[in-house]
Amino acid sequence: MDQKARVTFGTKLGIIAATAGSAVGLGNIWRFPSQAAQDGGAIFVFVYLACVAFFGIPIVLAEFILGRAGKANSAGTYRNLAPGKKFHYFGYFAILAAFLIMGFYMVVSGWTLEYLVLSITGELGRTQDFSALFANLRNNPTAQITWMVIFTAATAGIVAFGVKKGIELASKLMMPLLLLVMLILCARAVTLPGANEGLVYLFAPNLENASSAGMRILTDALGQSFFSLSVGMGCLMTYASYFGKDVRLVKTAGTMASLDTSVAILAGAIIFPAAFALTTDPGSMVETLKTGGPGLVFIAIPQLLQSLPAAQIWSVFFFLLLVLASLTSTISLLEVITAFVHEEVRVTLPKPIRFQKTKPENGVLHQEYRIARPFAVSVISIGIIVLGIFCSYSLGDHSALKVFGMSFFDFLDFVTAKLMMPIGGIFISLFAGWYLDKKILAAELSNEGTIPLRFFKTYSFILRFIAPLGIAVVLVVGLVG
Ligand code: TRP
Repeated sequence: MDQKARVTFGTKLGIIAATAGSAVGLGNIWRFPSQAAQDGGAIFVFVYLACVAFFGIPIVLAEFILGRAGKANSAGTYRNLAPGKKFHYFGYFAILAAFLIMGFYMVVSGWTLEYLVLSITGELGRTQDFSALFANLRNNPTAQITWMVIFTAATAGIVAFGVKKGIELASKLMMPLLLLVMLILCARAVTLPGANEGLVYLFAPNLENASSAGMRILTDALGQSFFSLSVGMGCLMTYASYFGKDVRLVKTAGTMASLDTSVAILAGAIIFPAAFALTTDPGSMVETLKTGGPGLVFIAIPQLLQSLPAAQIWSVFFFLLLVLASLTSTISLLEVITAFVHEEVRVTLPKPIRFQKTKPENGVLHQEYRIARPFAVSVISIGIIVLGIFCSYSLGDHSALKVFGMSFFDFLDFVTAKLMMPIGGIFISLFAGWYLDKKILAAELSNEGTIPLRFFKTYSFILRFIAPLGIAVVLVVGLVG
């Protein structure tokens, strides 16, 4: 174990910005509205909110507890909390999940960056056929890969600066801007004449819409809530390993989850009103909504925005929002793997060499070296880019890169959000509920007894029974039904 004190985030605001930054992402603005549209609007939204409350938040809190108590990357945390046991294999599972998520996430992030640039240069405004524009992008791996590489490099650049000067600082700068842009867009969207219809679609239950989605709503909502909260795979655990002793975990989990959920709802309150108010053909818009998918954010919305006065500004805002949201999330995903590689992987040199002269260890010969953060970040980024290249190729209309009948891109999305994260959630709640010493659980929740410990029995019951059983049932019913 490292003897030096572990780095911590500098301020409470920094912690909220970083954790909410991780949570608020493409999941909220690209995935949530698409899923809601596909699964019939309001009913999906209600099931989603229930998933956040009953499964999402308790597991966010569990990750915070484990991370702060374990003080290491996701594998090291399990090793520290359960020495001599095999639980750290679950940490490897989490690291694999982060890697797979980034494979497709960086591709979509690349699209957002391209659309932002096209908005700034005004080219988006000159586009006649938005479906063709998006299809061209998807069928052109070179362009797609270029944008993906740029986005990955930006992410890597931030993470290379470390926890405080990289992740925390970037999140503190980007999150307020994101919220501001979001509120401006939302104000614009809901004041459009005809916006009501969109709000009704989002908030008023419509059984007919929902019944075609059936039981799938359950897995969709569960997967979406986990994906959106960044929960179930050690991302928040890694961030929590950088929390100081006085951070209030319950409060932080609540604030982060509320911010994330509000942003998802606000995104819906931008996209649905815009979709209904600006279209000349509501019938076909409803069809577009039902098919859901990336088309909504990358075809329908940019096209509709063009009919507004000062269209260019609105589309710059919209894609800026997406870029900011992605970037604060990709840094959190990259940090999961970076912390692991930096802390766990050792390189053994063929011959011992002298340690850097400036350090107190001056004169000591070392044969084993840690991998420096910037180097770790670079190697991991190359891996992500390779995975992203496969994803990009799989999106072309004639691509043969299919797994179980899905494009490789959809496959990664499905496996991570609908399988790995719920399974991860079950594991984390079982570990925190059954294995972890109750004293540690209580000490973390009460900051060593300095703040009142409330609802301890209820929480422990949720972790032991409600969350794992509930998630298991939802997972099985959704997949089978
Ligand atoms: N929550 C982010 C979003 O909504 C994505 C994300 C960041 C994530 N870190 C994660 C998803 C960890 C799963 C696990 O876009």
